[in-house]
Amino acid sequence: MDIDLDIDGLNRKYGLENDLVFDLHPNGLVRANVQTNQCAGEFFLQGAHVTRYQPASQTHPVLFMSQQALYIPGKALRGGIPICFPWFNSHPSDPSLPAHGWARTSVWNLVQTQKVDGQIEVALGLAKDGFDLIYRISMGETLKVALEVRNAADVPLDYEIALHTYLSLGSIENVSIAGDLENCEHYDQLTQKLHEPEKQRIRFVQETDRIYYGQASRIVLDDPAWQRSIQIDSLGSQATVVWNPWIDKSKRMADFGDLEYLQMCCIETANVRQKSVRLAPGQTHTTTAEFQVQNTVTTNIR
Ligand code: BG6
Repeated sequence: MDIDLDIDGLNRKYGLENDLVFDLHPNGLVRANVQTNQCAGEFFLQGAHVTRYQPASQTHPVLFMSQQALYIPGKALRGGIPICFPWFNSHPSDPSLPAHGWARTSVWNLVQTQKVDGQIEVALGLAKDGFDLIYRISMGETLKVALEVRNAADVPLDYEIALHTYLSLGSIENVSIAGDLENCEHYDQLTQKLHEPEKQRIRFVQETDRIYYGQASRIVLDDPAWQRSIQIDSLGSQATVVWNPWIDKSKRMADFGDLEYLQMCCIETANVRQKSVRLAPGQTHTTTAEFQVQNTVTTNIR
């Protein structure tokens, strides 16, 4: 089938005038472009991957995308919000399977698009290995993403999920993370040690790869270099991953610039490891994250 016809068909069925327009990335991936009075955004059908979001009130993007990201069919995009599902990092028993599961490299189907109160609302679907997934993206003055997982099999199913959000920063050296994570114990994936709650803000001074356990309903990332903070409100999440590759790992990643670690960090609304989810047949669980930018900070540039 002629791909141009597919794109025309997608726009006829799911496009929303100039607010939501589908096109084809030069490398063959189907892309959705959002441009409204409230925000600009972008997502791909591969991975249901949100790659751009910027509210109209802001001069900087909320999501970080690497300049070196490879927009290649079947390959995860470096940045934005990859959906890690149904496992996190390496597969628990088969290391030959791709890291972070199949959801981020599968092509999702459009289920519904609509404009409600000036917000663009999109639902995408994917069914695989007994799971029925619906991913809802709402782009307006805030960005909200929610992964609903239903067990469509006749046996219990376990899964892990991380909404692996890359946040765009003025400068990693000055950011700090406040809120509920201060009261959560964390597992350091680099040293493989569990730590008591630190009761203080998280700052980045080296490679950081931590899983915080417990509900963190509100997290606030303070970014004094851009005089803004990003508030993350979550639901249905019992773990949060905080990641920055720092110097050496950045150099090792082919699809990431050597100095890009200065401009990003990941705060991932998750249910992983000891907080993985078990669903009985027919049961549903939803993990939600909402991102809101505020032009206030509570810390200064150091
Ligand atoms: C983080 C993990 O979520 O993702 C890290 O905690 C991992 O251990 C990182 O290195 C990036 O993973 P990937 O597969 O996108 O390179």
